[in-house]
Amino acid sequence: MQSAMKPSGGEGTPVHVAIIMNGNGRWAKSRGMPRAMGHKRGAEAVRRTVEAAGEIGISYLTLFGFSSENWSRPKQEIGDLMGLLRLYLRSEIAELHRKNVRLRMIGDRSRFERDIIALIEEAERMTAENSGLTLVLALSYGGRQEIVAAIRSIVQDVGNSKLLPEEIDVECVHGYLHTAGIPDPDLLIRTSGEQRISNFLLWQLAYTEFVFLDTLWPDFSANDFRRAISEFNDRDRRYGAVVAPN
Ligand code: IPE
Ligand code: IPE
Ligand code: MG
Repeated sequence: MQSAMKPSGGEGTPVHVAIIMNGNGRWAKSRGMPRAMGHKRGAEAVRRTVEAAGEIGISYLTLFGFSSENWSRPKQEIGDLMGLLRLYLRSEIAELHRKNVRLRMIGDRSRFERDIIALIEEAERMTAENSGLTLVLALSYGGRQEIVAAIRSIVQDVGNSKLLPEEIDVECVHGYLHTAGIPDPDLLIRTSGEQRISNFLLWQLAYTEFVFLDTLWPDFSANDFRRAISEFNDRDRRYGAVVAPN
């Protein structure tokens, strides 16, 4: 099987790393600080991680920053997170562009305030032609919601005779997802101890290797990143096939 979606082998640098950035709240709580402080330090970890991804030579880095379900958090916390997102986009766009990073956002952007939508669009437009790291921000993102949206579009296109039912296959569905054109993640890292997906990239993680770290996201370092990649390198990826013993 060789397709646009097939991830790279379990050796060397993964092409696509996805990270569930978790543990900001606990980081703050353990220091007697408000959760907002954990998110602020979490944003600094994002900056470091993007930098490290470039140095390591990763082609795609997807960061789960805010889930569809996170909208159910207290108003105050959502306000803090939106403020940080605004600040991050305003302060980082130029720097990301200078570093040849291409920015892409996946998720339901219609739920954000207008100025944030405008900032995201500006960042995507400005960096669209860049050829370095592709930074994918998953914001207001849910894997199930993404699949539902894809099904709706597929049904619509079949209804309009743009698509024949027999043309619907794995490649076709891939093209209807927010991640169209992006290879599936080779490695998924989740920080802060929980071992679950929390509605992240449900379709795309089919053959991804998972590494769970106890490190809380604000403490995540380039060293942790390299450690996770080294664990990935020890894995034997078989994709359901039988590998001959050597
Ligand atoms: C991750 O940290 C950031 C977001 C989900 C926005 P959390 O806010 O989930 O922190 P914990 O997991 O409660 O410690
Ligand atoms: C997952 O973290 C979402 C993001 C990291 C953006 P959560 O903290 O929301 O996940 P649960 O609630 O522990 O499953
Ligand atoms: Mg959490």
